Amino acid sequence: MIALKLWLIAANVFGKPKTNTDYLPYNGDGFKLSIPSKWNPSKEVEYPGQVLRYEDNFDSNSNVTVMVTSTDKKSITDFGSPEQFLANVDYLLGKQTYAGVTDAEGGFESNAVATANILESSTPVIGGTQYYNLSVLTRTADGDEGGKHQLITATVKNGKLYICKAQAGDKRWFKGARKFVESTASSFSVA
Ligand SMILES: *[C@@H]1O[C@H](CO)[C@@H](O)[C@H](O)[C@H]1NC(C)=O
Ligand SMILES: *[C@@H]1O[C@H](CO)[C@@H](O)[C@H](O)[C@H]1NC(C)=O
Repeated sequence: MIALKLWLIAANVFGKPKTNTDYLPYNGDGFKLSIPSKWNPSKEVEYPGQVLRYEDNFDSNSNVTVMVTSTDKKSITDFGSPEQFLANVDYLLGKQTYAGVTDAEGGFESNAVATANILESSTPVIGGTQYYNLSVLTRTADGDEGGKHQLITATVKNGKLYICKAQAGDKRWFKGARKFVESTASSFSVA
C-alpha cells in the first residue's frame, strides 16, 4: 500500500500534486468519495434514499448528495442508456421536471426546471463495475438563478442503486466551483 502510494506520487499520476487539505476522504456504507474540505455536512434531505449531503457554506447551490436505494436491477445498464437512466431519476434534476408545465395557472412555477440538457455522458467500467456518468445543465423557466451544472455518477451493486450528484450554479461554476464539483463527482466509487 505504501509502496503503491509512493509510486503514484513519483509517477505523478494525478497530475499536479494536490494539497491534502483541499479534499477529505469520506467512507460511507458501501461507497466512498472525496469531499471539498471547505464544504460542510447538511441534514437537509432532498431525495429518496439520501445518505449524505454536503454543501458549500457560502453557497448552498454548490452541494453534493449520495442516494442509496434498493433495486431489482443487476447492473446500471439494465436501466437502458445513460439518457434512459436519467429519465428514470429525473426527480434528481429539480422541482417539477417530471410534472410538466400545465398546472392550474398554466405556467411554470418559479424555480421549476424548464430544460435539462445532457452535455456529456460516459459509461466507464471501474474495478469491474459498470458506472454511468452524466453531466447535465438545467435551466429554470424564470431564468432567475441561471443554469445549474449537475454531475451524476451512478452504479448498481449488490441489489442497490448508488447515485452521487454534485452540482453548482452557473455563476460559481465559472468562478472556481467547477473543479470541486468535478473532483467530487469523479472520486465517487462503490466498494
Ligand atoms: C443544491 O444545489 C442545487 C443546484 O446547484 C440547487 O438547485 C439546490 O437547491 C441545492 N440544494 C439546497 C438544499 O440548497
Ligand atoms: C466519468 O468517469 C470517468 C472514468 O472513471 C472519470 O474519470 C470522470 O471523472 C467521470 N466524470 C464525472 C463527471 O464524474
